Amino acid sequence: MRKEPIKIAVLVSGGGTNLQALIDAEKNGKLKSGKIALVVSNNEKAFALERAKAADIPTAVITGDGFEDALIKTLKKAGAELIVLAGFMKILSERFTALYSGRIINVHPSLIPSFCGKGFYGLKVHEEALKYGVKITGATVHFVNEIPDGGRIIMQKAVKILPNDTALSLQKRVMEQAEWKILPAACEKVCKKLLKGAAI
Ligand code: GAR
Repeated sequence: MRKEPIKIAVLVSGGGTNLQALIDAEKNGKLKSGKIALVVSNNEKAFALERAKAADIPTAVITGDGFEDALIKTLKKAGAELIVLAGFMKILSERFTALYSGRIINVHPSLIPSFCGKGFYGLKVHEEALKYGVKITGATVHFVNEIPDGGRIIMQKAVKILPNDTALSLQKRVMEQAEWKILPAACEKVCKKLLKGAAI
């Protein structure tokens, strides 16, 4: 069996707390079958880039026209084998998702199939959950295909909604109790399978 960890590219757009959870998991050995080899942002101001730099991880900023072609070039150059969308706020084309089929995963801040799909991202997801009045929400890590938030589910974790929750307090609890736990765990699970050469 192959010994070197799977090369992971993490795609980010914002604060990067999920990226931080992955960096921490790699440091404390919870993520051992994969190694973050590159962080790519479509936003040059993303704080996630600072987190990557602090952890000595190479970064790339790609914006504007021809985004996906430039992204593919960058990923190939880095030898990326698994792509993790961690707060990446851009929908990838069918051409891209087919090229990396079974090798892109995403963390979404709800229990899919609730509050997901086009237009459901970031705080908006929690606003809609509160508006609907659900009592339980959570997070999902899933494979990415051509349907936004439509790929096979890898892991989910439920989180209770409390009576005085605001979208912000709910977002924070979903991150702490679910996203930052299941994203590194799902990443390890997928990398382990890829290392074994098992079907994913
Ligand atoms: C996270 O809650 C993530 O699940 C969500 O945006 C936030 C990014 O935070 N992603 C989406 O809504 C994608 N559909 P982070 O930059 O601190 O990781």
